[in-house]
Amino acid sequence: MSTTTSVRPDAQRPAAAQPLLDVKDLVVRYGRGRKAAAAPAAVDRVNFSIAPGETVGLVGESGSGKSTIGKAILGLQKVSGGTITYEGQDITSAGASQRRALGSELRAVFQDPNSSLNPRNTVGSSLAEPLRLRGVGAADARQRAEDMLERVGLPRDAVDRYPSQFSGGQRQRISVARALICDPKLVVCDEAVSALDLSTQAQVLNLLADLRDERGLGYLFIAHDIAVVQFLAQRVVVLYRGQVMESGPAAAVTGNPKHPFTQALVAASPVPRPTEQAARREARESLGVRTGAAAVPSPGGCPFRLRCPLATDLCATERPALRQVGGSAVACHYA
Ligand SMILES: Nc1ncnc2c1ncn2[C@@H]1O[C@H](COP(=O)(O)OP(=O)(O)O)[C@@H](O)[C@H]1O
Ligand code: SF4
Ligand SMILES: [Mg+2]
Repeated sequence: MSTTTSVRPDAQRPAAAQPLLDVKDLVVRYGRGRKAAAAPAAVDRVNFSIAPGETVGLVGESGSGKSTIGKAILGLQKVSGGTITYEGQDITSAGASQRRALGSELRAVFQDPNSSLNPRNTVGSSLAEPLRLRGVGAADARQRAEDMLERVGLPRDAVDRYPSQFSGGQRQRISVARALICDPKLVVCDEAVSALDLSTQAQVLNLLADLRDERGLGYLFIAHDIAVVQFLAQRVVVLYRGQVMESGPAAAVTGNPKHPFTQALVAASPVPRPTEQAARREARESLGVRTGAAAVPSPGGCPFRLRCPLATDLCATERPALRQVGGSAVACHYA
């Protein structure tokens, strides 16, 4: 039996210690002027929080606003509305000095290792850089770089080599080492394993899980593939056109999805076994969710309505609020 109270998506978690990160009613609009104000927001009133040591998975199709949320948290994108709180401190519009102070606690791993590894610098100098910026001496920084490389499964002498001398998976391990060398508390992983082949992906995911558990790290783990998110996340937030469609414990959201869009994402996620893949394809077809780029819905109403097999007139006029359905919060009039 489902309940129908309106909730914030993180309301299911027991009131524990202060969250590491709290994102409240976040809105991000790109561009300037009246035209930008009339366009749909890239991120539209998004709520979630991350407890210390917890992984929250952020999943959605390309263009749904995942990276924009990551960038807003990292201070790389201006916020148009709402608040971002880190350890009780409002960092929504943090200035340069507040960001510098946060720089070692809040780190990122991106899809493209070249964004954090300068191809002209040795791996050792890329790893030492964040430490040197914080006043660590050269010899000490080199020692810590070697230790960190060893921890991510690379030889210590990798410090003297260049990124181009490593495979894609090894370069991603180096990016993880660079993100973790300052002992951060929160790491934003934006499509961190998406460019890797399946077996390398599994190795890097296992490494991320081990590091999280041994260091008590919080992760915001962003990916377009719900199967990848499911591996690491305790809680999952599903985005569509900048809005949260469903969020809750990973087992509930991925194992028993309630929103038509989450159901389509789960059914579309690749699985290694051909029989299961065939069953999923059948399930996907029976859902009747339209695939591909749908026309852009006019503002208001449910953003998913042009692809949704269950859409009614109500869906065109009223934005569904997130409400508790079973274990998850779901934004659908009919979930
Ligand atoms: N720098 C930018 N300027 C204008 N629009 C942008 C910019 N970056 C992203 N967008 C738009 O914002 C939306 C969300 O993008 P993004 O956060 O990159 O999505 P995702 O990471 O889920 O693929 C998309 O419609 C995208 O086109
Ligand atoms: S609110 Fe309507 S259009 Fe949106 S997901 Fe639910 S049924 Fe579909
Ligand atoms: Mg992205």
